[in-house]
Amino acid sequence: MGLIQRRVGVGLIGVGSIGGTHAKEIKAIKEAELIAVADYDKEKVKDFAEKFGIENYYTDYKELLRRSDIEIVNICTPSSTHSNIAIDAANHKKHVITEKPIDITLENADKMIEACKKNDVKLSIIFQLRFADDCIRAKNMIDEGRLGKIILADLYMKFYRPLDYYKKSNWKGTKKGDGGGALMNQGIHGIDLLQWLIGSVKSIQGLTGALRHDIEVEDTAVALLEFKNGAFGVIEGTTSVYPDLSQKIEIHGTNGTLILKGGEWPTIEFCEFLDKKEVCELKKYPSEDEMWGVAHRSQIMDMISAVRENREPIINGLEGRKSLEIVLGIYKSSERGRMVEL
Ligand SMILES: NC(=O)c1ccc[n+]([C@@H]2O[C@H](COP(=O)([O-])OP(=O)(O)OC[C@H]3O[C@@H](n4cnc5c(N)ncnc54)[C@H](O)[C@@H]3O)[C@@H](O)[C@H]2O)c1
Repeated sequence: MGLIQRRVGVGLIGVGSIGGTHAKEIKAIKEAELIAVADYDKEKVKDFAEKFGIENYYTDYKELLRRSDIEIVNICTPSSTHSNIAIDAANHKKHVITEKPIDITLENADKMIEACKKNDVKLSIIFQLRFADDCIRAKNMIDEGRLGKIILADLYMKFYRPLDYYKKSNWKGTKKGDGGGALMNQGIHGIDLLQWLIGSVKSIQGLTGALRHDIEVEDTAVALLEFKNGAFGVIEGTTSVYPDLSQKIEIHGTNGTLILKGGEWPTIEFCEFLDKKEVCELKKYPSEDEMWGVAHRSQIMDMISAVRENREPIINGLEGRKSLEIVLGIYKSSERGRMVEL
C-alpha cells in the first residue's frame, strides 16, 4: 500500500482579479489545502474568504506568513510588489509562487531569486501558457527538429483594453506599479512562450509608445529580434487595437511552418511540414470558464510536486526572469533609439 501524503498548506496573497483563479484552482487540487488569504483591502478579503469558504483571512500578509501550517505562498498582488512579498515569504521559509512578471526590474528579480536560494525554498513564476497542451506539443515538435532550422519566429499580441481598464486600477498602466504596459503586463505571456520555444534572444531593436490611451506606459510596441540560434523575429504587442485579435505565434523553419493561435488557450492552428501536414485535434472544454484556469492548476500542481520531490519547479526564478529581460531590452532600445544586445 502506498504512503498517504498529507495535503500541502497554501496561502494566497492578493485577492483581486487573478486571485480568484488561484483560489478556485488550489481548491480543485486534492493535494492542496487553501488555508488562508490576505489582502490589505479589509472588505474584499472578508468577502473573498466567505465566497471560497476559507477560514482564515488577514489584512497584513505577514500574519499569514507566520502560520506554520502554510508551506506555499501564492502572490497575486500588483507586479511591482512581487519581490518584497516573495522575499518576506522566503525569509519565513515558505515556497513561493508568484504571478507574472517576476517583478518589474531585474534587480528585484535577482533579489527574490537570491532570497529563495538562501532560505532553501522554491520559487515559481506563473506563465500558465507553457502548461497548455498545444504549446507543449509545439515545443516538442520544435525540439524534435520537425521544423528544421528556425528561420523566422514572430509574435503578435494584439489586444484591446478600454481606457477604463487603466483608470479603474490604482496600478495598471503606471510606471511605478506595472513597470510598463502592453508588453510588461499582457505581451510578456507571449514573449515567455516565444523564447521558450525558440531559445535566447541575442539582440533587440524596439519601438514603444502610448498611441491611443492617455497612460504613462506603452499601449503599443514593436520589436525586431535576432535569436542566438540565428533566427529573426518580430514582436507586436498592443492593448490599443480594436477588435482584439488576441495572440498568435508564427514559426517558420527550413522544413515547415507552425502557427499557434488563440485566446487564453493557444492551439496549433496550422502545422505543415515538407513531408506532410499534421492535423491537430483541438482539446474541447465544456465552457470558456472551465478552460480558463486549467493551465494555472497544472502549474500550481507542478510546484506541489516540486516541493514533495525536492526538485526545481518547471518555471523557476531564472526561467521566469528571461521574459522580463526581453521586455526591458525592448524598452531600453526604444528609449535609446538603437539596437541593444542582451
Ligand atoms: N497569469 C495571468 O494570466 C494573469 C492575469 C491577470 C493578472 N496577472 C498578474 O497578477 C497580478 C495581480 O493582478 P490583478 O489583475 O489580479 O490585480 P488586482 O488589482 O485586481 O488585484 C491585486 C490585489 O492585491 C491587493 N494588494 C495590493 N498590494 C497588496 C499588499 N501589499 N498586501 C496585500 N494585498 C495587496 C489589492 O488590494 C488587490 O486586491 C499582477 O502581477 C498581474 O500581472 C496574471
